[in-house]
Amino acid sequence: MLCTVFLPPKWSLGYQQCRWSYDSDKRVQEVTRTFREKKIPCDVVWMDIDYMDGFRCFTFDKDRFQDPKSLVKDLHQNGFQAIWMLDPGIKVEDGYFVYDSGSKTDVWISRADGKPFVGEVWPGPCVFPDFTQAKVRSWWSNLVKDFICNGVDGIWNDMNEPAVFKVVTKTMPESNIHKGDDELGGCQNHSHYHNVYGLLMARSTYEGMKLGNAKKRPFVLTRAGFIGSQRYAATWTGDNLSTWEHLHMSIPMVLQLGLSGQPMSGPDIGGFAGNATPELFGRWVGIGSLFPFCRGHSEKDTADHEPWSFGEECEEVCPLALRRRYRLIPHLYTLFYMAHTMGTPVASPTFFPDPKDTSLRKLKTSFLLGPILVYASTAVGRGMDALQCTLPKGIWMSFDFDDSHPDLPALYLQGGAIIPVGPPHQHVGESNILDDLTLLVALNEHGKAEGVLYEDDGDGYEFLEGGFLLTHYVAELQSSTLTLKIAKTEGSWKRPNRRLHVQLLLGGGAMVDIWGKDGEILQLSMPSEQEVSQLVSTSEKQYRTRLENAKRISAVEVSSAQKGIELSRW
Ligand code: GLC
Repeated sequence: MLCTVFLPPKWSLGYQQCRWSYDSDKRVQEVTRTFREKKIPCDVVWMDIDYMDGFRCFTFDKDRFQDPKSLVKDLHQNGFQAIWMLDPGIKVEDGYFVYDSGSKTDVWISRADGKPFVGEVWPGPCVFPDFTQAKVRSWWSNLVKDFICNGVDGIWNDMNEPAVFKVVTKTMPESNIHKGDDELGGCQNHSHYHNVYGLLMARSTYEGMKLGNAKKRPFVLTRAGFIGSQRYAATWTGDNLSTWEHLHMSIPMVLQLGLSGQPMSGPDIGGFAGNATPELFGRWVGIGSLFPFCRGHSEKDTADHEPWSFGEECEEVCPLALRRRYRLIPHLYTLFYMAHTMGTPVASPTFFPDPKDTSLRKLKTSFLLGPILVYASTAVGRGMDALQCTLPKGIWMSFDFDDSHPDLPALYLQGGAIIPVGPPHQHVGESNILDDLTLLVALNEHGKAEGVLYEDDGDGYEFLEGGFLLTHYVAELQSSTLTLKIAKTEGSWKRPNRRLHVQLLLGGGAMVDIWGKDGEILQLSMPSEQEVSQLVSTSEKQYRTRLENAKRISAVEVSSAQKGIELSRW
């Protein structure tokens, strides 16, 4: 059995917008419309607990979400996917179909005396499905299967530690009884199964989504997990705070999860609890847009945290950050394919290219996305312009998309690497196999580079029958001519007839480029050494000017944003 991460549907690599809660279909439409109006890329909108009728799972509030199916139809037309929350706590209430059918099928975890355990969560007194039994998982999966018909593209499993309110342990008593299947360890008390409860719930939700539509890849996000939960669900780093410290911590957390086998993770961008400042928010979107899972979320009763909520300063940084992510999606999707087939992390620590250099192990503000090094600043008042980057040994070519900004991380490509880059779409559904393909090339000390691009339908399972295209590109510099060609192709897909743009990085963000056709051999004549140093110095100058201008804008706007805050206080 493959124990690696599920291959995520490609749309789930786009930006995802969440909130506790977008509590009516009108608000959901308003938010998604604003993304498109402001041309800020986004693929997913999330419905937190308030979409439900009185926090009853598998129900919709009849007034605020009258017709979820047509809502989602509209969202799809607009290029958005919809993810809805399902918690394990089921309201104790005769006449509520989930409670009734669960009681009839005997699915609840019981107390030591054999009676169903009742603990308080959002809806008040709740019972909890015992996911350690196949019978219970299949009961839940069937509920999920029916739920999918309402227009559900993904499911968010929350509170599945399981969380229980008003008790010191914040979970259920260890003496509770699970009638687990023999293959899992049989009938045991809760202390035996506590750590795998979230994993088994996610598994059951994933299986239910597959039951509902075998042709689509399920997308599940789980708050609780264990080794192996990457097969069924992505995860996030939980309820964080809108503070610089928590922004800082989010990098090592994502890296540790990746090293533990869960490559699909990210923090609540902007911070869940409390209000971010414009600077913190902009910086967080800058860094968060390069995490494998990229979702903004914030707690009830906090100020709005959408990318446009912090005034003009953030309206500059946030779209830049997210467009950057969308340009990198062909590369990110390729990294996920590798994670799925080989178990490699998507985001990995900076010491990976040189494990012997122990100083690299201390770096907490940088990480790798394959051969891309992302170097960030998590310090208040100190943007990238004030930082000196510590790089692993070897060649690291800096690059940007003409978008460098003090609040965005610096990007480097490792010598010897080629990465695929796409156009900055508004959502993944806009991308097309015929889109121009850009390859960024950084040569190693031998004048060589190689890289991979994985392409498939972006959803479904045809890739398992060979329905994909995996291209290995190689580049080599010989007597001042760079030759780029395909070394190997895998998969049954035919190469699309598309334009290929090769950009060779020269250092300092400078590059020389050539256009051609994908599949053909491309040759680029290298400029002379003198021309190269001229290009590098011009590019460095442009880079500095860009940072200075951005800083000036930001300084002016911080003060007017602050004025706005002062005024609104009175
Ligand atoms: C939990 C989740 C949070 C969610 C909230 C309401 O605190 O971690 O993300 O918004 O519950 O459902």
